[in-house]
Amino acid sequence: MAAIVVYLLLILMISSNTGAQGGPPSPGYNPSSRVSSLGFNQGFKNLWGPQHQRLDQDTLTIWLDQSSGSGFKSLQSYRSGYFGAAMKLQPGYTAGVITSLYLSNNQDHPGNHDEIDFEFLGNTTGKPYTLQTNVYIRGSGDGNIIGRELRFHLWFDPTQDFHNYAILWTPSEIIFLADDVPIRRYPRKSDATFPLRPMYLYGSIWDASSWATEDGKYKADYQYQPFVGRYKNFKLGGCTADAPASCTPPSASPSGSGGLSQQQIAAMQWVQRNYLVYNYCSDPKRDHTLVPEC
Ligand SMILES: *[C@@H]1O[C@H](CO)[C@@H](O)[C@H](O)[C@H]1NC(C)=O
Repeated sequence: MAAIVVYLLLILMISSNTGAQGGPPSPGYNPSSRVSSLGFNQGFKNLWGPQHQRLDQDTLTIWLDQSSGSGFKSLQSYRSGYFGAAMKLQPGYTAGVITSLYLSNNQDHPGNHDEIDFEFLGNTTGKPYTLQTNVYIRGSGDGNIIGRELRFHLWFDPTQDFHNYAILWTPSEIIFLADDVPIRRYPRKSDATFPLRPMYLYGSIWDASSWATEDGKYKADYQYQPFVGRYKNFKLGGCTADAPASCTPPSASPSGSGGLSQQQIAAMQWVQRNYLVYNYCSDPKRDHTLVPEC
């Protein structure tokens, strides 16, 4: 009996240890708590693949199978704001599959659009997802592709529970947050390297077999279909395109003056030190004259 208790205690100690290592230090502030959630139908509509989308209570489910994926779009466009959702991803084999949450104006500006992305790149069974963040400015996602990718692994399993992902886009910076932890900050260093035109918020699940997983080495395998993405706690805390000039987006930090607190910066640095797996600014294969912000 005593031996069993000691054994159980040991297991507990080991598992709580690894748990403590796994997460970032607290950012000390939760921007998500400043923006209330809205129901899917209050803020969004289906954009494509309507037969691959279902709404149960507050949770939107979209899925990809051999016949189609699915995507949704906000009803309004925004020139700044806090944009988020809680998402839960498909476990198991998901290579080639992308589950996304992103801002874009590609329908208004085909060929020279802006975009701010969260893209979850699926993987083979037992391998972790990669969370890709990206920023495109005026067409650099179209003909001549100039992505600005930072890719992360996560300190949690995004298939086990819902986690909050958010983009805060203000006139001076873009901040990507996972569970209120800032993981990337993209400041407005010049007008040429910053998205300035109104965008809509989108979400989607689709087949990107040509590049998503190890540059296309592993493709979507439809023996594992359907590939399912779940979304809830939608947040659209922004200035719509036609809002008065006095409208300001929510603040990223407790000071309210914009900019991150020291504690938020420490949390972001921890994430980048431990979980950043790719940074376009330090990729020797990239032409750095095209990305002057680096
Ligand atoms: C897939 O898993 C491998 C091994 O852990 C990892 O290095 C890679 O970044 C992952 N790829 C994607 C696209 O998630």
